[in-house]
Amino acid sequence: MSKPTRDILLLENIHEEAEPAFKKAGLKVRRTGGTLDETELIEAIGDSTMIGIRSRSQMTEKVINSVPNLEAIACFCIGTNQVDLDAAARRGIAVFNSPFCNTRSVAEMTIAEIIGLHRGLFDKNSAMHQGRWDKSATNSHEVRGRVIGIVGYGHIGSQVSVLAEALGMRVVYHDIVPKMAMGNAIPAGSLDELLAESDVVTLHVPETPDTKNMIDARALKRMKSGSMLINNSRGSVVDIDALAEAIKSEHVMGVALDVYPSEPRARQDDFTCPLSGLPGVVMTPHIGGSTEEAQIAIAREVSMKMVTYQQRGTTTSSVNIPEVELPHRRDGQDRILHFHRNVPGVLSKMHGILAEGHVNIHAEYLQSTGDLSYVILDVDHLQDGSVIDQFRNMDETIRLRWLS
Ligand code: NAI
Repeated sequence: MSKPTRDILLLENIHEEAEPAFKKAGLKVRRTGGTLDETELIEAIGDSTMIGIRSRSQMTEKVINSVPNLEAIACFCIGTNQVDLDAAARRGIAVFNSPFCNTRSVAEMTIAEIIGLHRGLFDKNSAMHQGRWDKSATNSHEVRGRVIGIVGYGHIGSQVSVLAEALGMRVVYHDIVPKMAMGNAIPAGSLDELLAESDVVTLHVPETPDTKNMIDARALKRMKSGSMLINNSRGSVVDIDALAEAIKSEHVMGVALDVYPSEPRARQDDFTCPLSGLPGVVMTPHIGGSTEEAQIAIAREVSMKMVTYQQRGTTTSSVNIPEVELPHRRDGQDRILHFHRNVPGVLSKMHGILAEGHVNIHAEYLQSTGDLSYVILDVDHLQDGSVIDQFRNMDETIRLRWLS
């Protein structure tokens, strides 16, 4: 195996705010523009120990198995399905992401859409651009006093709750997990109750088998006549054909969609949707979380996670390997970070090797998930690499790092 290069390769124009943390930690930052195919990616990674990507670089099993020195993958985005997480775990490669840094961005866009739909801003704007002066108060409302129904009261839903209440809206919410109400928000008895009493329903649930077509023809009928629907969560949550019918029949009077059952892969690709051209519908290209502020927050959060992993071995919030929160290494002690197959007898082998070498253990941490175990040993300062060599030669060893 070639000698690892302690650097990070950043792809896909990751925000420059990622760099200070790496540089402060003494890591060299390399950048390559554009999206690389499998072969180019393997070549570009070379002997690097870390890579930072966004959503377009595909870290396939082949890539992962072709770069023996890679220790960690940073996804400077929300999703991680561009990475073969199991293949990475099998090689003891940690994957980190930033699931919640764009919460506020989505919440603000939701509020903007609620106000815009209540005032017919989007249709009025289109009319003006077509030379029509449609000055009228018909179907134009203040949001103050209106009822907002929030489905999914997690990070985004609860932020929307706070902002909506500040505008004087009455907030009801529904979640499958009991959630503490923000401000004066009230939990609805059920999803059906929420649908029946809300002037505007906004969806903030994840994509799960339970949420697939959660808003279907039946649910749409439950909504108040003339009410509005916002989906800035996942495209699978709404039956879009049923929604198109509900708009055509004027049962639903305003819709804002940021996500779709099928979304174009690239910027230039064509987009079609049963809602195209319908009145009272505003559509955006999955940009709810896309703000400069979110990009900066993601860059800072993910780079910090990578540096903490590099310097300490902490894997907290990794999406694919056992999570262990570790303190700083004490002066005069070495730290051994050991990924191994989760089978009986590994710890006793390690203890035996250390005892034979007269090396004292000061602290020990262990966490396992599935087939993978991660053990961290803080030990006496090692005079040479003989203990490390023995650990490396154990059949069960997947990856080992020695911090001295
Ligand atoms: P979160 O995990 O913090 O909150 C989701 C909430 O939904 C949780 O409280 C959960 O208990 C609840 N939930 C799950 N299944 C439910 C069900 N069947 N019925 C009712 N509640 C249910 O997630 P977060 O960060 O608030 O994100 C919400 C959604 O927004 C996700 O789908 C996420 O992918 C999407 N999102 C969209 C973005 C965009 O650009 N449009 C950007 C960021 C997130």
